Amino acid sequence: MCGIIGYVGGREAYPILVKGLHRLEYRGYDSAGVALCNSIGELNIYKAKGRVSDLEDFCKSKDTVGTMGIAHTRWATHGEPSNVNAHPHYSESENLALIHNGIIENYAVLKEQLLQKGYHFQSSTDTEVLVQLIEYVKELNHVDLCTAIQLALGQVVGAYAIAVIEKGNPDMMIAARKSSPLVLGIGRDEFFIASDASPIIEYTNRVIFLEDEEIAIVRRHEQPKIVTIGNVEKTREIIQLEMSLGQLEKGGYPHFMLKEIFEQPRTLRDCMRGRVNVECNNVVLSGIIDNKERFVNAKRIIILACGTSWHAGLIGEYLFEEFCRIPVEVEYSSEFRYRNPLIYPDDVVIAVSQSGETADTLAAIELAKESGAFVYGICNVVGASIPRNTHSGSYTHVGPEIGVASTKAFTAQLLVLSMMALCIAREKKTLDEKRFLKLLIELDAIPAKIESILGNNDLIQNLSNTFTYAHNFIYLGRGYNYPVALEGALKLKEISYIHAEGYPAAEMKHGPIALIDSEMPVVAIATDNGMYEKVISNIQEIKARNGRVIAVVSENDTVVKGIADYVIEVPVTEDCFDPLLTTIPLQLLSYHIAVNKRRDVDMPRNLAKSVTVE
Ligand code: AGP
Ligand code: GLU
Repeated sequence: MCGIIGYVGGREAYPILVKGLHRLEYRGYDSAGVALCNSIGELNIYKAKGRVSDLEDFCKSKDTVGTMGIAHTRWATHGEPSNVNAHPHYSESENLALIHNGIIENYAVLKEQLLQKGYHFQSSTDTEVLVQLIEYVKELNHVDLCTAIQLALGQVVGAYAIAVIEKGNPDMMIAARKSSPLVLGIGRDEFFIASDASPIIEYTNRVIFLEDEEIAIVRRHEQPKIVTIGNVEKTREIIQLEMSLGQLEKGGYPHFMLKEIFEQPRTLRDCMRGRVNVECNNVVLSGIIDNKERFVNAKRIIILACGTSWHAGLIGEYLFEEFCRIPVEVEYSSEFRYRNPLIYPDDVVIAVSQSGETADTLAAIELAKESGAFVYGICNVVGASIPRNTHSGSYTHVGPEIGVASTKAFTAQLLVLSMMALCIAREKKTLDEKRFLKLLIELDAIPAKIESILGNNDLIQNLSNTFTYAHNFIYLGRGYNYPVALEGALKLKEISYIHAEGYPAAEMKHGPIALIDSEMPVVAIATDNGMYEKVISNIQEIKARNGRVIAVVSENDTVVKGIADYVIEVPVTEDCFDPLLTTIPLQLLSYHIAVNKRRDVDMPRNLAKSVTVE
């Protein structure tokens, strides 16, 4: 959601900023803009609704000279996507240019005050209020830009990552954050600021993650200075990132999403590396081992997440209850944070998030911590806000996920939850050793089994041609495969814009079965597990009403093959690891349908990769 990039150094800023915006495109946006400051301190702003390429077209005939600049991709919250509402925004005098990610919640009150002081507004954004406020405070108090930013941010309620540059000052850029991510990149006599490390990594891997209410003052030829809004100077550690540029590129695939689907055997091996050891019959997750008393004595586990990560959480519930015998509740972070939930000090809260920046999950974590619960994070992005704001946790280690629709991060979340369940079960002695070893061997075999499913890609692509023009889809699964049905439906909705619903298969007869006719494709997950017979009955109910059934079945299946219209085979595994396999064909089906429909697969409309506003 929204991307910020800023540069000050010896090179021309514009090409670096535009390339950076392209690298941030995966986050989702609706318009883009850039502000440049040239050597004599002139400030120019250019903006365009649409893609970064539209901004580039617009800038072709413009003066883009300058070795300092800031640029932005906007995901509208206040005011429609338009040229005027795009960032950067000027202050009244056009002396300041500001970009912003987040929401200024008290913008209406502030705007009213500024209007009364004679300020004029070009846009309907909350962001323009902030830049005007900074200028107003600066002029009123005769202070420098940094002090004005400190004073203005002191009046602001909401979430922000901002970057500001000033006319007549070609050597200084100021950035600040609260509840929205911001990274400072330290190159050789050049500096970057960005929403995440992806646009910086080709120039430097040395970064500082700003904390809430911190301001970075970045001056040409000087080491950046970090102060708080309250003007306390801070020393922040420079972190060396391991991310490589290759990880950010498509590697010969037409879309990041397909690349990421095909990466899953490797990403899951990476995720297990150093953690699962079949020879020693062991699973080691340091976050669990270091805090084993917390987990062993937990009276309850609460899993908090949104979207796809919430689906992973639902599977976590099945895993922890089956193997660890700990009661589990899975909550949408957005509901949890506002419903005055009961949280006890002996609860363990697990927050699941690919990006580690989801605003609702961050707020839910704060609430849980205030109530004394131990909070564990499962996150993919190293150094993101969630791992920094939880007591302990595990990274999924799948590398950057660029496609907005989550694929490899989801399977890695399932894997981490599985490893956690096994690790805790062993500590709690709720799983006998023979079964533990069997599960471990099976877990270790999952990446190879995914490889064999990916071998069915052509078959799934053919199948997708048959269903490209369907208007609705239903996905059914039971037990461990019920959340997979929800995830399959979400994936289809997100990238093809086809309406799809997931249900626990037995719920069909309580309502949704009324929708079934010959026009309705039903994807049924009917693998050979404890729920097999039950799902067969549910498929019979659909066929009796002329529904068209695409079934995901086990390789040894004979029965469903005789009933369903189409089948996709997956290898047999333990029930609890079935989602790691059954998810894969559903990802491919959504992908191919979306490609057939010529959708923007990696950047579906209206969606953002990291949802940094509530
Ligand atoms: C996944 O395909 C979605 N785009 C979305 O539901 C996502 O899972 C959700 O926004 C949560 O994000 P997070 O995992 O980064 O917290
Ligand atoms: N709230 C701001 C706007 O609507 C910023 C949105 C964003 O994060 O891109 O312009």
